[in-house]
Amino acid sequence: MKFILKRIFSPFLKKASSLYLRKPRNFSYNGISVMVMPSVFPPFMTHSTKILVDFITPIELSGKTFLELGCGCGIVSISAAKKGAIVTATDINETALTALEKNGGINDVKLDILYSDLFQNLHERYYDFIIINPPYYPRNPKSIGENAWFCGEDFNYFENLFLQLPQFTTLDNQIYMILSEDCALEKIEAIALKNGMVFNSILEKKVVGEKNYIFKIARL
Ligand SMILES: C[S@@+](CC[C@H](N)C(=O)[O-])C[C@H]1O[C@@H](n2cnc3c(N)ncnc32)[C@H](O)[C@@H]1O
Repeated sequence: MKFILKRIFSPFLKKASSLYLRKPRNFSYNGISVMVMPSVFPPFMTHSTKILVDFITPIELSGKTFLELGCGCGIVSISAAKKGAIVTATDINETALTALEKNGGINDVKLDILYSDLFQNLHERYYDFIIINPPYYPRNPKSIGENAWFCGEDFNYFENLFLQLPQFTTLDNQIYMILSEDCALEKIEAIALKNGMVFNSILEKKVVGEKNYIFKIARL
């Protein structure tokens, strides 16, 4: 029953937030404010972005290289930069990237902001931390904004991600992904495993009846 309700509720959440996000909206969390543009992943009614901000808050990031892969509004990247990290924020949504240029300036942080489809434009780079809040509903995105939610009917986002991720995984770096019980966890873990990567759940947080997990991803 709970599963069925969630399947109904999540598309509703998406519709409700896209109506709300027809205009740019201000989002403030943990002392940081950003403008969220139409088509950019809305951190308002969802919990994952806030959980990630809370997650990185106690981590020592000073001088560490930090990649937010698929940065959306970029509040996670700005939070990391405020803590002294050397931050790269990427996305395939140009509107998100342009807005983040401004949001970074307003929050007085320096960010390396670049367009990259997954790791496509990040060759030969090393990151101490890689943080991913992925799209996970198995439908094909029909607009750039839908890439924030839909990973492709055949989980194409995850197939491509886990094909590329091993090249950016070392013995020392830390890779974290947030997922919810609302997604096909087993399927996503199986795609990772096929590419020699394993998930270890390091945080479980229930918000408004939905369990969210942060997984640490490492080589098998
Ligand atoms: C769920 S949103 C998370 C946004 C942000 N990290 C946050 O926590 O608020 C997923 C983000 O990944 C981006 N994305 C989707 N497919 C991508 C790809 N192939 N390469 C890079 N970014 C991608 C989307 O545009 C979106 O901004």
